[in-house]
This record gives sequence, structure tokens and C-alpha cells, in this order.
Amino acid sequence: MITVKNISKSFDSKKVLDNISTVIPDSGIFAVSGVSGSGKTTFMRILAGLETPDSGTIEGLDGKKISVMFQKDRLLPWHSALDNVAVVCDKEKAKEWLKKVELSAAAGKKPSELSGGMCRRVALARALAFEGDILFLDEPFKGLDIELRDRMAELIKEFAKTKPVILITHDRWEASLATDELRI
Ligand SMILES: Nc1ncnc2c1ncn2[C@@H]1O[C@H](COP(=O)(O)OP(=O)(O)OP(=O)(O)O)[C@@H](O)[C@H]1O
Ligand SMILES: [Mg+2]
Repeated sequence: MITVKNISKSFDSKKVLDNISTVIPDSGIFAVSGVSGSGKTTFMRILAGLETPDSGTIEGLDGKKISVMFQKDRLLPWHSALDNVAVVCDKEKAKEWLKKVELSAAAGKKPSELSGGMCRRVALARALAFEGDILFLDEPFKGLDIELRDRMAELIKEFAKTKPVILITHDRWEASLATDELRI
């Protein structure tokens, strides 16, 4: 389990996170919810080791391999959808993950030729293909219709059977996928 104790973070003089404490179980979906600007992405970046808190401690992440799906897709524009996934795994596995996110037919297309929701799914496939010990998802369903969202949620639930998923969202339906929730 991951134990977060008294995390605070300010940017300039503005306090974004004020004494956050929580426990994240070893498996299952853990939602981090809150309005726009409440500090969800900042909290995730601190947990993922990409940002330093002003104070507080995090235990249980040492030596863990971390997969992150960022709020922005961060796809490599010169690579095809397939090669964007294959950045983190071999081509065969990348093909399997593209199939799971229902993008086999778009494997050869560049990000500029894909819709917003398609790019989001390439980013999801890449995060899953990396096979981390823990998965951070920052607004993973942006741009997806309800049916597609349900099917992508199944992939995330599958990962969460054995490992922790931290799901950042401001959507109540998405938060309801989680067994635990931190509202910030
Ligand atoms: N690197 C930074 N430098 C200065 N201010 C920052 C930085 N990162 C975040 N902030 C500020 O911290 C606050 C929280 O930002 P954050 O991105 O964590 O919010 P969020 O809850 O993820 O919002 P959203 O739902 O819109 O993505 C905002 O006011 C933002 O302007
Ligand atoms: Mg955010």
C-alpha cells in the first residue's frame, strides 16, 4: 500500500495542496477527484516523483515501476500510432494493445491524422503496454463516447485486479469506478 502523509504544495504564494493524507491500497481503482484547478494533477505528479512536495512523505513507492497516462497525450508526432505504443514495448505487444483499445485499423496513422479520442486511446495503450507496478491515469476518458468509455474502463479494471490504479477525474461516473476516492 502507498501511504501519503501531510503533503502540502504551493506555487508562488498559492497553496494548491494543503496537508493531504491518504492510503492507497495495493490493488483496485483509487479516484482522485475535484474541480478544475484543485490540484489533482499536481498530486499525481508528486506521487509519480515528477514534482517535489513542500512538506509531507510518501511511503510504498520505492523501486516501483510507474506507468503514467498524462493529461496531455504526449504522443510523438513523427511516429505512427503503433510506433508510439512500441516506444515502451515490442511491436507484437504494441499491436495487441492497439487492438484492445480498438485502433488496429489506425495503427499506421500519425497523431495528426487521429481524432482526439483516438489519440487518448493510443496514450492509454502506451501506459498499459509499459506494464508498470502502478498506473496513473489523468483524465483518461476525455473525448470518448459513453460506449467506448465503458469498454476502456474494462481494460483499466483488469489492470486494477492485481495492481493499484490512480484515476484522476472530475466526473462522477468515472469516480464511481473506484473503490476508494480522495476528493481534493
Ligand atoms: N508548475 C506550476 N507552476 C505554477 N503553478 C502551477 C504549476 N502546476 C500547477 N499550478 C497551479 O496549481 C493549481 C492546480 O493545478 P493542477 O493542474 O494540479 O489542477 P487540476 O486539479 O489537475 O486541474 P484540471 O482539472 O483543470 O486539470 C492551478 O492553479 C495551477 O495553475
Ligand atoms: Mg489536471
